[in-house]
Amino acid sequence: MKKLKTDNYKGTRDFYPRDVFVQKYIFDIWSKTVESFGFEEYHASVLENSEIYRAKNSDEIVNNQTYTFTDRGDREVTLRPEMTPTLARMIAAKKRELSFPLRYYSIPNCFRYERPQRGRMREFWQFNVDILNVKNDKFYDIEILKVINKILLNFKAKPTDFTIYINSRNLLNAVYKNYFDFNENEAKTYQSLLDKKDKISKDEFKKEYEKITDRDYVDIDKMDIKEVKKELGYINDIIAECKKDNIEVKFNQDIVRGFDYYTGIVFEVYDNDPENNRALFGGGRYENLIDMFETVKDNVSISGIGFGIGDVPMINFLESRNLIPEYKNNVDILIGIISDDKKVIDYADDLAKKLRDDGKNICVNYDNRKYNDYINMAEKNNIKNVIVVGEKELEEKKYEVKEV
Ligand code: HAM
Repeated sequence: MKKLKTDNYKGTRDFYPRDVFVQKYIFDIWSKTVESFGFEEYHASVLENSEIYRAKNSDEIVNNQTYTFTDRGDREVTLRPEMTPTLARMIAAKKRELSFPLRYYSIPNCFRYERPQRGRMREFWQFNVDILNVKNDKFYDIEILKVINKILLNFKAKPTDFTIYINSRNLLNAVYKNYFDFNENEAKTYQSLLDKKDKISKDEFKKEYEKITDRDYVDIDKMDIKEVKKELGYINDIIAECKKDNIEVKFNQDIVRGFDYYTGIVFEVYDNDPENNRALFGGGRYENLIDMFETVKDNVSISGIGFGIGDVPMINFLESRNLIPEYKNNVDILIGIISDDKKVIDYADDLAKKLRDDGKNICVNYDNRKYNDYINMAEKNNIKNVIVVGEKELEEKKYEVKEV
């Protein structure tokens, strides 16, 4: 028989207990931080009808990066590449029953058929945090940036470890209209070029840029155009409000974000360590995503603001600064039996039961090994306490808890 390889599927990871420990640590800080801002958790299936990604998603993700297949009932199914369309569907489905505004969060696993590289995998867990249907958008645009900042500080990161960059689709649209005089298609082509600016060489960018326009690539904040200045004013207000909280947010005209559904501010957070050069967080405001569902009338819009962050770039960020705590096994005590006598075994079992009833996690070893073997076993597995049980302990009805 041909033996099988032990490799996992390309771009996925196996999680051994030490990896689960790290993942739990991260998920816990993510959840607790947003819960402190009043967010509630939701879940959904990893399988979605493919059509929900077509309507308002970027072509690159839908055409090149989804795992899509036809099921036995001839339905087109996709493994979710992101959570926002699912969230929009869930909101649209229960629009009447839900009491708005909503603050929702989730940590789903997502799948993207992309080239595995530092910070990017084919299966990853993505923390999603969204606020839906509020009245005073601006305060929530600010709050969502405060949430991001607080998450990173709760991991003990320093403000100098990361940079929050902000831009706005409204601002970009004002520039497309008033400076470039683009039609909708030209604006789209230009925006996709900006989105890949970081991934291509300067020469390539220049060549593509010149194909689209003969106007210079200039600083938006130096443009003397009324509509542009108004939109820039919105961004500057957000920057100023964040500054009052000692959060530094920078305007960056090259942050455009790949998804078509963004309409207002867009932002990305970067690790200042150049080794981790992919975005850590990405998000923005989306005003019309929920309209694609039949329960929502054309003139009703439910606006949302939110972000996603992946577990892979988060781990890289923490690892490069030594911010991941040392692995701790969740077993409190290892009971090692050094006898084959059934009475000794029963005594050890009773002891384990009592300790478990007291809320301790107890692992019993029945293999009749030597005292030192048990100490080594505990050491290797990061178990902090050992009780060795033999004839003597049974006779004296006394045992010693040895700290390792
Ligand atoms: P996104 O920019 O595609 O946005 O992803 C957001 C974050 O998810 C990235 O900054 C990165 O941390 C993580 N991420 C994305 N792809 C991968 C990957 N292949 N491996 C590991 N991590 C990855 C969205 O998905 C939007 N739906 C976010 C959002 C929520 N906007 C509003 N609400």
